[in-house]
Formats: sequence, C-alpha cells, structure tokens
Amino acid sequence: MWPYPKIVAHRGGGTLAPENTIAGLRAGLAYGFRAVEFDVMLSRDGIGMVVHDPDFGRTVAGQGSVAQTDAAALAGMDAGSWFGEAFRNEPVPFYTQFIDYCKAQRIWMNVEIKPADGFEAATGAWVAKVTRDSYSAELAAGDPARYPLLSSFSFDALAAARDTAPELPRGYLLDKIPADWQQQAEQLGAVAIHTNHKHLTPQLAARIKAAGYGLFCYTVNDPARGSEILAWGVDGFCTDRIDLIGPDF
Ligand code: G3P
Ligand code: MG
Repeated sequence: MWPYPKIVAHRGGGTLAPENTIAGLRAGLAYGFRAVEFDVMLSRDGIGMVVHDPDFGRTVAGQGSVAQTDAAALAGMDAGSWFGEAFRNEPVPFYTQFIDYCKAQRIWMNVEIKPADGFEAATGAWVAKVTRDSYSAELAAGDPARYPLLSSFSFDALAAARDTAPELPRGYLLDKIPADWQQQAEQLGAVAIHTNHKHLTPQLAARIKAAGYGLFCYTVNDPARGSEILAWGVDGFCTDRIDLIGPDF
C-alpha cells in the first residue's frame, strides 16, 4: 500500500537548519530522520538544483532568479546566512549532491519537482532521467521502498516525468483537491495524492484511500494534528518540526 516512510523531514531539515541544504539533511539525521522532502528547480544551463523559490531574496542572498543563473554560480551562492550566521555560505546544492548524500546515508527521498514558470516539462524530464539513472540498481530490484517518490504541483512536469521514466513512482501534489482529482491522477499514472492537510476532510481521505491511492500530507507541525489525520487513513506527512514529531511518531 504505502511502502514509503510515514514521517518525512520537510525541505531537508525542516526548521532546524536552512531549508534545502546539506546542512538540513545533517540536521534531519541528528534527529533520526532517514526520509526527506525537498525541491528541485533547473538552473539556466539546465541542471537540477535544490531550491524552493524561483527568485533570490528569501533564502538565497542577492537578486535574480534560479532560471537565469548557471548551476556553477548557484553552487557558489549563500543559501544559509538568512537562517543564521553559523550557516553563512552554505551553498545551493546540486540535486546530484543530494542523491549522493542520501544514498550514502540511506535516506529516502521525496523529490518535489518545482519548475520555474515555463520550464515545467523540461524540469520533470530532467529530474526523472537523473533519478532513474541514479537508482537503476534499486529500480531493477523492484522494491519501491528503496527508490525515490517524485511529486509536483505541475501536471505538465509530472507528465514529462512519466514519459521519461514511467517506472519511477509519482505523487500528484494538490493544495485543494479538485472534483476531477482522480481523472488527473489516472492520466499521470500517479500512485499517491499529496495534499495540504488544512483542506483535507475525513470523507475526502477515505475516498482517496478507497480508490487505491497513497495519501500524503504537507506540512504538519502539530503532533495532535498529525495523530488526527493519521487516524483518517493518511499514510504519511512531512513536517518542519522534526524536533517535535520524530521519525517513529
Ligand atoms: O511537497 C510538499 C510541500 O513541500 C509542498 O509545498 O511550498 O513547501 O514546496 P512547498
Ligand atoms: Mg516542497
């Protein structure tokens, strides 16, 4: 049914480290997390980088955008000092660095394909290709618990991922679940619906589970709320509060 971990650290190490950095993965490990969600966007030269916002200013110091900056330059930018002086010059990671780190530490990945506007299909195809090539042995072994789950809010990105590497599982991210969710999920060959817990109801959760889909929520930071939605049949969720909600929650 749900072969993946139940509790997943959001954006690397949640709020315990700068988001989408190797320092975040390290923070997750320190709290016992071997399951992580993070975001991948293409640089100007078409390389997947781990970053959430299309524009600089919030987590990456400076002006400009990911889609108009080459990967080598992004890797030299400061994605840490916004969080704390101790993290100054923590770089924007290459997606392949995240793969290497997660493989070495046996961390399961939920890779959110986060395309900049206009790069939906290109980003989905790139992430799918690199992920498939990096996990060919795990895919051949046929044990889904050992390979990543791709997800995206972008239908076009997931469709491109499906066309590039159909063997990689896909979760369809929906903020509010629309009436035609199942039709869209079927078109994408999605194995799971990933949704905002704030808009989920027990009835909707039951319908999604009865239709045979995995059900994953973002981003649950209150333990009581986590228990509540798990009781509705939700399979798992990501959290920023890895200090409050542990991997064995
Ligand atoms: O993948 C779930 C969650 O990360 C979606 O929202 O904005 O944090 O990427 P966001
Ligand atoms: Mg995300």
